[in-house]
Amino acid sequence: MTDPNLAIIVLAAGQGTRMKSSTPKLLHELAGAPIVSHVLATAEALDPSVVLAVVRHERDRVSDVITAAVPHAVIIDQDHVPGTGRAVEQAIHDLPDGFTGEVLVLNGDVPLLDADTLRDLVERHRSSGAAATVLSSVVQDASGYGRIVRVSDGAFDRIVEHNDATAAELAIDEINAGIYVFGVGALRDQLANLSTDNAQGEKYLTDVIELLRRAGSDVSAVPVTDSWKAEGINDRAQLSEAAARLNALIVRGWQLNGVTVQDPATTWIDLTVTLQNDVTILPGTQLKGATTVARDAVVGPDTTLVDCEVGEGATVKRTDATLAVIGARASVGPFSYLRPGAVLDENGKIGTFVEVKNSHIGAGSKVPHLSYIGDTTIGRRVNLGAGAITANYDDLAKHRTEIGDEVHTGSHNVFVAPVRIGDGAKTGAGAVVRKDVPAGALALSVAPQRNIEGWVEKNRPGTGAAGVAAQARSAQKADDGTQGQDG
Ligand code: UD1
Ligand code: CA
Repeated sequence: MTDPNLAIIVLAAGQGTRMKSSTPKLLHELAGAPIVSHVLATAEALDPSVVLAVVRHERDRVSDVITAAVPHAVIIDQDHVPGTGRAVEQAIHDLPDGFTGEVLVLNGDVPLLDADTLRDLVERHRSSGAAATVLSSVVQDASGYGRIVRVSDGAFDRIVEHNDATAAELAIDEINAGIYVFGVGALRDQLANLSTDNAQGEKYLTDVIELLRRAGSDVSAVPVTDSWKAEGINDRAQLSEAAARLNALIVRGWQLNGVTVQDPATTWIDLTVTLQNDVTILPGTQLKGATTVARDAVVGPDTTLVDCEVGEGATVKRTDATLAVIGARASVGPFSYLRPGAVLDENGKIGTFVEVKNSHIGAGSKVPHLSYIGDTTIGRRVNLGAGAITANYDDLAKHRTEIGDEVHTGSHNVFVAPVRIGDGAKTGAGAVVRKDVPAGALALSVAPQRNIEGWVEKNRPGTGAAGVAAQARSAQKADDGTQGQDG
């Protein structure tokens, strides 16, 4: 149920300089979703009356991602004045008319916080009657964070930014997580008093705390129980740590749900993936996007699946696949490459060093070795010999190859598309199939073999090959002569 007294502001205007990236920091991904989308999903879970998101750096790219995550989010453009305080100052103008409740401010770069922690923070704020409640965290390495300064009786006094802190303040291990609940009136009053008189020349949201204290209001800092939940992402080292943390949670969640994951450390599963009971994931496997895996399937080792569907009991070994559908009890790999539109029906096989693109391979059909299958339809119970190549591209356009049911082709065939091979037909080894093959026919396109005796001795005299050939031929003649005498 929507909480009419709760508004959430997500801060997403910063550049993220420490990422050293042409991609805005908040669009870097963990578990398959941009950093800021994790924050927005958590914001949505609280069912606030409004979500306001503040953007500036790369505003179009960032706001597109925000709107994709929360379609009704209100996008606020921050002006040239830098700082988290300025971001909130501009956002509160867009609160619903007459809003008198609480404003929850979320840093867009703290993606691991969960909705329960935030709900708890809002509740504690409401029951304490404080003007502001800050989520804090006690950490091993506080560098870069704002420190929570408490007065002698332990009461929360203010936040000092890393760059503005004294040596004594830098020794404090309780940090500001960048998550705050404010009563809207107190917040509005003090934002007007912020200055840019600090080491970074920014309007710090954190200064609102000190201003509130000086105005005689109560503020409180509530430490989070698991400090990792409050970790912010400023650089790529922190990004990979947060991604590993989230991945460990996702893997564990699936394990507790009946999925065997042999090696959690080398198994990466996006939040958007779904797995059924008794799926087995072997080491070195990445499951990404909208991938689904049905029960009893075995995926891995060393397999990457992006937006794929894997059927019940299928096996997919050492494979790279995108937008492919693998049927029940089908077998793929090792070393297969499935590109978009590859569909393998039940009990089918795509084997070693086989690439398949935009092709449908029917039930029980096999493409076992060293093949390229593109823009092709293959019927049921077909077996393509080793080295089958569909020549689907004539330099101008792509063409289709159509292969009926129960077709068996010889090794090393080229199917020059467009071409059709009828039901039950066969082809000889090395055939280059340029014309349609009628149902039940045998297609041969290779000229009969001719052996020209003595060709090497005549045309390559003096070579090693000519020498051994001469020896072999005279031994053969002597042998033939002896056999002739005997017989
Ligand atoms: C901020 C806090 C710090 C806290 C840390 C927690 C301030 C002044 N400092 O520092 O006390 O320990 O987060 O992770 O708030 N942003 C804007 N507009 C701006 C600047 C930033 O919207 O003008 C956004 C950023 O996109 C980011 C968030 O605010 O999502 C925090 O900004 P960042 O520059 O990362 O602040 P920190 O230095 O980490
Ligand atoms: Ca930060």
